[in-house]
Order: sequence, then structure tokens, then C-alpha cells
Amino acid sequence: MALNFLILLVVIGLAILFAWLTRRAWNLSDPFLKWMGAIIGGLLTLIAMFVSALGLIGLFEYYNPPSTPVREIDVAITPGRYARGQHLAVAFCVGCHSPSRDFPMSGGVDVGKALPVNLGSYVSVNLTPAGPLKDWTDGEIFRALRDNVDKDGNRLVLMAGTNIRYISDQDLLALIAFLRSQQPVEKENPLPPDRPNFLALILTGANIIPERELVTEPILSPPIRATAEYGEFMASFMECTSCHGEDLRGGTSPIGPQGPSLRLVKEWTVVEFIMTLRTGINPSGRELSPLMPWKSTGRLNDVELAALYQYLVSLPE
Ligand code: HEC
Ligand code: HEC
Repeated sequence: MALNFLILLVVIGLAILFAWLTRRAWNLSDPFLKWMGAIIGGLLTLIAMFVSALGLIGLFEYYNPPSTPVREIDVAITPGRYARGQHLAVAFCVGCHSPSRDFPMSGGVDVGKALPVNLGSYVSVNLTPAGPLKDWTDGEIFRALRDNVDKDGNRLVLMAGTNIRYISDQDLLALIAFLRSQQPVEKENPLPPDRPNFLALILTGANIIPERELVTEPILSPPIRATAEYGEFMASFMECTSCHGEDLRGGTSPIGPQGPSLRLVKEWTVVEFIMTLRTGINPSGRELSPLMPWKSTGRLNDVELAALYQYLVSLPE
């Protein structure tokens, strides 16, 4: 962050220098040099001012993430919550929080390395009871998952780039119960985990890295059944849209993987859909590219996958 601050000061310095050079050029007597100097200098001044403004906004947003007050909760660990929390962790958390993509969730993976452009380093945290969470209250973990800020209110950058905040209140409690009952694994990871570079700040300032809205109402889940209604709810907290497009008609993001339109699932049976996500081989026998995270999606149970299927086939053409 100190480096980012320095870069920002240099860019502001450049803006001032260009402005000064432009003024100097304007005083030249040769009309050609005068106009060329003014146009080029003026443009450079504008660009440097624009970049400084985006950097400043990005820096401000980075240090002032919106968040809600920490709630007073004390999550009781029940067998039901433990089982549900473990299931959710397998499908949603181990992929980033474990080098083996399985338990234990001892962290230490630089998730920034997997991003298509270099935006800095973002090392996942040791989520076992030996990690930083031992000093957090249940309410602080709840807020970390819902608002994506840490105990001190600092932004959890990578977490904020996922849809984890739309997981239901009940499921967040189950996740907390599970996190608390894991085997502790002693492992030191760098703190703070986030080291965004200057480009990340500019993209944040320009809102190219979009900010999700603060959730202020409780999120209630429809009954967990193989229905389109539950499938639609699942899609709200999964990441399908970030690669398959906002309406799942195919991804268009210039920086992310572009998945095909998921309308193609209408041609498949529910068993074919489930088998595709469990094996990574689609009904025509083609192996899916590793860009499609079928290994984690395939860890959802049959009811959940069938719900996703019902939702996908219910989509309008
Ligand atoms: C896309 C990768 C990714 C996924 C998926 C993910 N995390 Fe994280 N998580 C991170 C990274 C990286 C950090 C470090 C801060 C940051 O960049 O968000 C983090 C930080 C955290 C923190 C804050 C810990 C601290 O000490 O600051 C908690 C709590 C957490 N994750 C829980 C979870 C849970 C529970 C899940 C599953 C529901 C999950 N994470 C899924 C990448 C991920
Ligand atoms: C990180 C990006 C990413 C995410 C997230 C993602 N997908 Fe994909 N998906 C892809 C890509 C890329 C392909 C194309 C793979 C290929 O054809 O080899 C794909 C292919 C598929 C296919 C197979 C299509 C075919 O041609 O047979 C299905 C089904 C699918 N995705 C469903 C989903 C569902 C459901 C979700 C959300 C739970 C999801 N995907 C999330 C990137 C993603």
C-alpha cells in the first residue's frame, strides 16, 4: 500500500509537471511549437489528472468499504449445522482456502495468481481455529461473509469479488458452526492478506471492478428441493453469471473466461447434467476445459444439482 501511495504521488506530480510544461509551451513565439506543445502537454496533463483521480477514489474505496454493524450472535453447534456447513465449505470455500482444494482449510493460496491480469497478491487465510478467526466473534465472521470486511472493517478484496454474501442467513450460521469445529492447523500466512497493486486501485476507482450492494435485510432460503425456485436461489450465490453472462446467455467479459450460453442444457436430461458436472465430460463425450470449475460445482449434492438443472431449463429462450 505504501508503494501505491508513492505511485499516486508520482502521478499527481506528473500532472503538475505536464501542466507547467503546457503553460511554458503556450508562451513560445513559434506558433507551431506553441500549439503542438499545448495540445500534447494538455492531453498528458488530462490523462495524469484522470489517473490520479481514479487512484484517489480507488484508495478511498479500498479503505472505506461499506459495512453493517457487527451483530451479537452466538452460534450453537448442532449436528445439522455442522453437516450443512461442511457441505457448503466443500462446495464453496476449499477451492480458495486450501492448497489441496480440500480440508483442512489452512489457507496460504495466492488467489491473485489465478486472475487473468496481475492485480496484486491476495493470499487466502487459515480458516481453522488456529488461524486469525480464533480472535473473532461469531458476529464478526458473519459480517465478513455478508459484507466482506475483516474484524477491523478493512475490505476483504477477493471475497468481495464473489457472490458469497448472498448465501442465506441460515447457511452462514451453519458455515460458522462448521468453521468453529474444525481441527486446528497451525500455519502462519501473511497478514494483511491483500496487496492490491496500483492497477487494481484504478480499476476499483473506475468501477470496472464492480462493487456489490450492501445487503441489509435477512436472506431467507426457499426449501432445499429439486425445484427451479431453489435453483434460481442457488444461482444468486454461485458464480455462474460471472463466466456465463448476466442472463446465462454466454459470457462476454473481456478479462474473464467466457462460458457458452447455458440454454444448451435444455437439450440434456437431468442425469446428463449431473454427470457432466461430476465428471467434466459433457453428453457428447467432450472433456470440458479446466476453465469451467466443474470439480467444485460437482461437489453439490444431487438435489442441489437437480435444482440448478430445473432452473436452467426453465429459463426463457
Ligand atoms: C475466490 C476465492 C475465495 C473463496 C471462494 C472463498 N474465499 Fe475466503 N478469502 C479469500 C482470500 C484471498 C481472503 C483474504 C482476504 C481477501 O482477499 O478477501 C479470504 C478471507 C476470508 C476470511 C477473512 C479472514 C481474515 O482473517 O481476514 C474469512 C472469514 C473467509 N475468507 C471465509 C470464507 C468462507 C467461509 C468461504 C466459503 C463460503 C470462503 N471464504 C470462500 C478467498 C476466497
Ligand atoms: C470461472 C468461469 C466459470 C464459472 C464460474 C462457471 N462456468 Fe460453466 N463453463 C465455463 C467455461 C469456460 C465453459 C466452456 C468449457 C468447454 O466448453 O470446454 C463452461 C462450460 C459449462 C457447461 C458445459 C457446456 C458444454 O458445452 O457442454 C455447463 C453445463 C456449465 N458450464 C455450467 C455452469 C454452471 C451451472 C455454473 C454455476 C454453478 C458454471 N458453469 C460456472 C466457465 C465457467
